[in-house]
Amino acid sequence: MENKKIKTIGVLTSGGDAPAMNAAVRAVVRTGLARGLNVKGMYRGYSGLLNEEIVDMTSKLVSNTINRGGTILKTARCLEFKELEYQQKGAEICRKHGIDGLVVIGGDGSFRGAGKLAEQGINAVGVPGTIDLDIACTEYTIGFDTAVNTAMDAIDKIKDTSMSHERCSIIEVMGRDAGYIALWCGIATGAENILIPEKFDGNLPMTELKVIDNILRSRAKGKTHHLIVNAEGIGHSYGMAKRIEAATGIETRATILGHMQRGGSPTALDRFHASMMGAYAVDLLLKGGNKRVVGYKDGAYYDLDIQEALQMTKDIDEYQLEIADILGRTIGDFH
Ligand code: ADP
Ligand code: F6P
Repeated sequence: MENKKIKTIGVLTSGGDAPAMNAAVRAVVRTGLARGLNVKGMYRGYSGLLNEEIVDMTSKLVSNTINRGGTILKTARCLEFKELEYQQKGAEICRKHGIDGLVVIGGDGSFRGAGKLAEQGINAVGVPGTIDLDIACTEYTIGFDTAVNTAMDAIDKIKDTSMSHERCSIIEVMGRDAGYIALWCGIATGAENILIPEKFDGNLPMTELKVIDNILRSRAKGKTHHLIVNAEGIGHSYGMAKRIEAATGIETRATILGHMQRGGSPTALDRFHASMMGAYAVDLLLKGGNKRVVGYKDGAYYDLDIQEALQMTKDIDEYQLEIADILGRTIGDFH
């Protein structure tokens, strides 16, 4: 049943930006307007809320944004929002602007902020936006697909030159404490080694020894290049390259891909899911949804309680890891 109280909704993007956040904002704005709501945009995440950087959103304001990377609403990390005083202030500002439902597009941290606003009486719904794919309640997060494709393209290029020079290449990809980008890129580019924080025991010398052993065995079997995708959560790629070169005698180069992974025109998959999730969030608010997070699971969108979502954990799929290991093996390692 429709919640008659909802007349005006707000939308903000928060935390690290991600490709297709614009597609989600556009969907919130246009679905909201189509449902007869007023839609207000807040600039710079919770910072913009506290500074009352709030504008009326029109359909035109989101024209030609579906293909653009970044977020037209800007984003920020607002540490003071972790304090009750500022959460209360944020809720008061929402009330002052007549906002009775808020869509927060961001990661786990942003969802915590949304949960705090909900505790202060503002209906809030989170939409998962992060390239890291590190939100446990959902199999998809906005921006992951684009980031993986961007990293894959870069790694393919590095692999070309690495093969010509018969070198070893280490490519460090983003992901904070999660290894999803590394695992996906590693499999997609045929990496010989994929290093992810979820499987890292903190013993860097031992991890490097295993990689060195792998390189030497693979060279002995005739393979003349070696690709290592290293997750940001492990890091130390430049030092690793020096130590590998010293131990193997094989020229080794490290590249840290960095923020290029967060930019660029989003893929169709990201645009599609972001559009659906943004619209879903608006309709959820209209149905009376509050303190909810939108997720994607088993081929369908769904929603669940924010606190429940924040308490969930997820692990890297062991089967995917096993297959990554099999596929990265050198010819001759197979029976
Ligand atoms: P992400 O949303 O990508 O996980 P952050 O962890 O940086 O990114 O969080 C984004 C913002 O969400 C923070 O800068 C802060 O404004 C807000 N936030 C994070 N944690 C909390 C919290 N515990 N309480 C209230 N707000 C929070
Ligand atoms: O959460 C997205 C992300 O790009 C992570 O992969 C990375 O660890 C972090 O943000 C980098 O943050 P910043 O842009 O503040 O350096």
